[in-house]
Amino acid sequence: MGDCRGGFQTRPYKGQPQGVAPTGVNMKILVTGGAGFIGSHLVDELVRLGHKVRVLDSLEEQVHQGRKPEYLNPETEYLWGDVCHSQKITQALKGIDAVYHLAAQVGVGQSMYELQRYVRDNSLGTAVLLETLLKQKKKIRKLVVASSMSIYGEGMYGCKTCGPITPKERSLDQLRRADWEMRCPQCGKRAAPAPTSEEKPLYCSSVYAITKKDQEELCLVWGKSYQIPTVALRFFNVYGTRQSLSNPYTGVAAIFASRIKNNRPPIIFEDGLQTRDFIHVSDLVQGLVLALGNEKMNGDAFNLGTGEPIAVMDIAKILLKIYHRELPLKIMNQFRAGDIRHCFADVTKIRRAGFVPGVRFEEGMRQLVEWSHGIKAKDKVERSTQELQKRNLVFTTV
Ligand code: UD1
Repeated sequence: MGDCRGGFQTRPYKGQPQGVAPTGVNMKILVTGGAGFIGSHLVDELVRLGHKVRVLDSLEEQVHQGRKPEYLNPETEYLWGDVCHSQKITQALKGIDAVYHLAAQVGVGQSMYELQRYVRDNSLGTAVLLETLLKQKKKIRKLVVASSMSIYGEGMYGCKTCGPITPKERSLDQLRRADWEMRCPQCGKRAAPAPTSEEKPLYCSSVYAITKKDQEELCLVWGKSYQIPTVALRFFNVYGTRQSLSNPYTGVAAIFASRIKNNRPPIIFEDGLQTRDFIHVSDLVQGLVLALGNEKMNGDAFNLGTGEPIAVMDIAKILLKIYHRELPLKIMNQFRAGDIRHCFADVTKIRRAGFVPGVRFEEGMRQLVEWSHGIKAKDKVERSTQELQKRNLVFTTV
């Protein structure tokens, strides 16, 4: 399944003959953020399908540690620069038929104290891209924007007495008592997590989430006004090869892999029973390619997840098993400001469009671990947790 570049071959999705571009026509496509973890896998797949691909990427220091990654696709044109620079964007858009906008700052905790950087690169960067697109003579045929499950805040729940509910965050008092599970805002009983659909009201709980909501809404409103087919995909928790193992602001799966590789116990917030929906990057790419060719998805936002909840504690256990390590789990009895308890995708809408996730979690984790053996992983988690503590963004129970 994998190769030494941490690549893979995606499965064809419903109705797509293998090797043929979904639209039947090969296009010239710009991928912003195309040197990153998700972007680079997307680039490989687009090239494989016969498209001409250009990447605009700032080679963010926190992700790439000042080096060009080894996995860059040799058949792709790379421009190094920032989405906020209209000159760079103008250059990047020359002759382009379709745009995937993936460039973004992605650290949730960090976004709470580096507000300007997140609002600038994510929200303003998107505005610069859209304004520059307006100045192009040729209209693009598709815009696909990377949105995020973070815009929901808490996921959906069901209460035995009150039925389906969409609660906001848990109170600080409740969390200080280590009463972790969500309670029904009406009757106070424990609520059970339920699949989160696109209809759920959006309750952003971080600056990062606000900027992701900005990116989604800016693109959809702009696309509607100028009749540019636009699709927003709400990524759930993505994992896989090429994920930065030295960026402490990346997702929990990569953070745990980095800890275990360095023979350090995974640090677990709350009690470890909080759940997320982990989607393998090859499945995510399948969803991204689907959005390019499927006209019925235009003008709308879709969850892109697997629909399967997995507990944070189980990720640590699975990784310890695959790495053959016996390390204790460090359950901190602490919680991070803005963390949600449960969120997993209702995938009905994107399944109807033809999406079928195919990688099982343990299989995807094995692939991540195998790839990680050849990668240096600098574990900076304790330092980044201290950063949060210093700013009162990590709390301890009483
Ligand atoms: C957040 C964003 C998501 C983004 C992802 C990666 C929200 C609701 N979602 O997801 O859009 O793609 O970050 O940037 O904001 N945890 C530990 N130990 C650790 C690290 C994390 O126990 O060392 C726990 C967290 O407390 C949390 C869970 O693991 O309960 C998941 O955390 P994380 O991977 O940071 O992602 P999300 O917060 O789900």
